[in-house]
Formats: sequence, C-alpha cells, structure tokens
Amino acid sequence: MKHLLKLLDLSKEDILKILNLADQMKYDLQNGIPHKVLEGKTLAMIFQKASTRTRVSFETGIYQLGGQALFLTHNDLQIGRGEPVEDTARVLSRYVHGVMIRTFGQNEVESLAKWASIPIINGLTDFAHPCQILADLMTIREYLAALEGVKIAYIGDGNNICNSLIVGCLKCDMKVSVATPAGYEPDATVLEFAKQYPNHFTLTTSPEEAATAADVLVTDVWASMGQEDEAAKRMKAFAGFQINDTLLSIANKNAIVQHCLPAHRGEEITAKVFEAHAKEIFDEAENRLHAQKAVMALLMGGAVS
Ligand code: CP
Ligand code: NVA
Repeated sequence: MKHLLKLLDLSKEDILKILNLADQMKYDLQNGIPHKVLEGKTLAMIFQKASTRTRVSFETGIYQLGGQALFLTHNDLQIGRGEPVEDTARVLSRYVHGVMIRTFGQNEVESLAKWASIPIINGLTDFAHPCQILADLMTIREYLAALEGVKIAYIGDGNNICNSLIVGCLKCDMKVSVATPAGYEPDATVLEFAKQYPNHFTLTTSPEEAATAADVLVTDVWASMGQEDEAAKRMKAFAGFQINDTLLSIANKNAIVQHCLPAHRGEEITAKVFEAHAKEIFDEAENRLHAQKAVMALLMGGAVS
C-alpha cells in the first residue's frame, strides 16, 4: 500500500492491518504510550472544501506521532491559479513526506499520486471518503466485536460516503443494503464492484427494505459540499430517506447508528435518534484520529514498534 486514494485499491488484509493498528493507537493514546514514528516528518494538507474533523484529526494525529502538518488551502496555492497537478506533486515531494488532499475530482487525487514520490491520502473527493469509512469500520468492530456477517444499511444519497462504505464493508465480508431515491444511486464503478458480492449487497429505493434486520444504520447529508445549488430539489427527492424511530424499529433491537457528520437534524436523521445514538456517532468521529494515525504511520513511517 503506497497511497490511500480509495478503498477499491485496498485488500481486506490492508484494511484489517489499518484497523488493528488504529486499535493499538487508540489504546496507547489512552494509556500514555507514545508513538513518535513520524518524528521530523511533515504532512501537507490541501483543502478545497471546508472541514472540521478531517483537518483537526490529521493535524493532531501527526503531532501525536512526532511530526507536523501544513494547512494549505487550494486557493492560496499556485494550483488554484492553474499550476498543473503534476508539477505541484513533484515540488511537494521535494519538501514534505506525505500529502492529504480534500478536493472535488477523484482524478486530481489520482494524478497527484501518479506524479508524487510520496504517499497521497484522500481526505474526501466527490467520489470517495476512505478515511471516514476506516473510522466507521473501526467503530462498528468496537461495538459489535466483528465485521463479518454484520448487516449495514445506508439510507440516503449515493454519494462519496455511500460509495466508500459499500466497498469497505463488502471487502470486510459485511452485508450491505443501500436505499437511495431513483436517480441518486451510488457510482457505477462501485455498483460494478458490488456485483462480485451478489449475496451480500442489495440496492433498493425502499428505506424500510434496506433497514430490515440491520445491525448498523448509516446516513449522510442530502446535499454534499458543492451541491448547495441543488439543495431545494434534493430536499424533495430525499423526503422519507430519514433515520427516525420508525426505521430504527425495523432494524435489529440493538442496532447502532453512524453519521460521518456534519448532520442536518430533521433531514437525514431526526434530532431524537441523533441524540439517542450520540455516543456511537461521536466515537465514530473520534476514531478518525486513530484510524488516520494508523494510515500515516503505515504510509509515511514504515515500521511501527
Ligand atoms: N466527516 C468529515 O469528514 O468531517 P469534516 O468535513 O468536518 O472533515
Ligand atoms: N457527503 C458529504 C460528506 C461530508 C464529510 C460531503 O461530501 O459534503
């Protein structure tokens, strides 16, 4: 594993290696055991979209590992004035030890990786959010003790979170049911991938069908960053694709709820369900830190003691 561009590139073993190290990172942080495996190393973080969790967890994470982060906005870099990605990649490779990028196009991230000689980490594109799903898998394993055979239901937009969730969960032998309105399905490449798992994957337009007997219910905003102009149209299309008490009553009795955040109460999730499941949701947010420390240690640090 040289980069983290999308979960489609990772094997089940790669994912489990990250999750196991993430568990260790979490235990060690809680018990005051340091891991200075990135001493003297720098992560450049390029943001073309807003962020709370990704920015703070990467910046804090590399600091805890002994390194430092540079926060760079797309618009302040020459890349925002048209400097080619291939040049930016080669320049940054001479200064820093890794790049985390949050942008629109997956092609930009792939092309950075093609031209850079250092690891590239996808901090969210319109296509994928691999760091988020690693934290989700870590959280699900914490609550349910295993991943194999666990049924996860995703309700809402077939967006970046949905795409990565399908891939990550299927690779870990989970059962995945996705409910989206017609016209808002996950990416075609992800649906093609899911065909390899005919007994583990279903796509429906019925939230009730997807949620039946689920161990984990997941949702995300109806309008992602960059889709603000279509928000009104989306509010109409997604009505009914909400995690609420009715949907939870169809899921397994002890089902957990995950949300990558930020959440829009009253849209994709009710305030009541959100607060009743706040512990799981904020554990999920916390696990971004541990999962990403594991990713950085593996990609940028080599051996971890
Ligand atoms: N879930 C997530 O990536 O949050 P931010 O947009 O705040 O980074
Ligand atoms: N789907 C959301 C996720 C935010 C973390 C977005 O892309 O805006």
